[in-house]
Amino acid sequence: MGSVQQVGVVGCGLMGAGIAEVAARSGGNVVVVESSDDAAKAGLARLETSLGRAEAKGKIESASVVLDRIEVVTDLEALADREVVVEAIVEDEDAKTALFRRLDEIVTDPGAILATNTSSIPVMKLGVVTSRPQQVMGIHFFNPVPVLKLVELVPSLLTADETTERARGWVEGQLGKQAIDCQDRAGFVVNALLIPFVLSAIRMMESGFATAEDIDRGLVLGAAHPQGPLALADLIGLDTVQAVAESLYEEFKEPLYAAPPLLARMVDAGLLGRKAGRGFYTY
Ligand code: NAI
Repeated sequence: MGSVQQVGVVGCGLMGAGIAEVAARSGGNVVVVESSDDAAKAGLARLETSLGRAEAKGKIESASVVLDRIEVVTDLEALADREVVVEAIVEDEDAKTALFRRLDEIVTDPGAILATNTSSIPVMKLGVVTSRPQQVMGIHFFNPVPVLKLVELVPSLLTADETTERARGWVEGQLGKQAIDCQDRAGFVVNALLIPFVLSAIRMMESGFATAEDIDRGLVLGAAHPQGPLALADLIGLDTVQAVAESLYEEFKEPLYAAPPLLARMVDAGLLGRKAGRGFYTY
């Protein structure tokens, strides 16, 4: 199979817009589907801002040339001729299974890859609602998508090797990303290691063992991390940290994945980190 030219993305939020951007920057023709006119407008504005910034920094020659390759629409039928579709809608199992049923009806290319960017929903749950689970897999990007190089490739037990290899060719050969292979387990590789680390730092602070500042300074200066685990939690968003911890705990039932009470109380209080102006630090 040749290179991928016709790309579809569903959802033009934080991740969907990033995925559409990198696909278009690599020369692909991209159709993005949003759920309403207002959301499509917001998605397009997100793309314009990000591409404008890339142009100002000299990372791309022309934002408008890249934007011309992207169409943001509200009709899923526009995905009929796509070779790869990446789903990046809300992290809700019912919404995603409903969407995969529809994609299965709509996408006509018999070799098309139907991918999900989910962080925590088993890929298998989405594969089995389609008539072609051998072509359904996880392609998990990292935020911000235009900047972070990593993509986790997540075949389910029913995904064909050919599908995974075609996805690898697309993300590595065309998008300029680097892929790692993961099994279809909660957290894949990165979150399964990162989240318990962040939870341990929260437990350490909660027990009075060390302050947030000292924990973070320790990891930055003593282990050469670019930022400490509590600053990182603020960046990810404490609600997201809690949600990923819950899905890991649900899957493995290991205490190291259990969200500590302080995290739950901070989420209840709305102290969600950077996006709320306050988390472990004040912004
Ligand atoms: P977001 O909330 O920024 O964007 C979701 C978008 O999907 C919204 O614009 C919404 O209008 C749209 N949408 C919802 N239902 C839709 C439907 N049925 N059809 C079309 N559009 C629909 O969310 P975000 O952060 O971009 O996350 C998207 C997915 O990516 C989730 O599955 C999440 O777990 C995953 N993810 C998120 C990461 C992050 O750092 N935020 C990192 C890696 C994966």
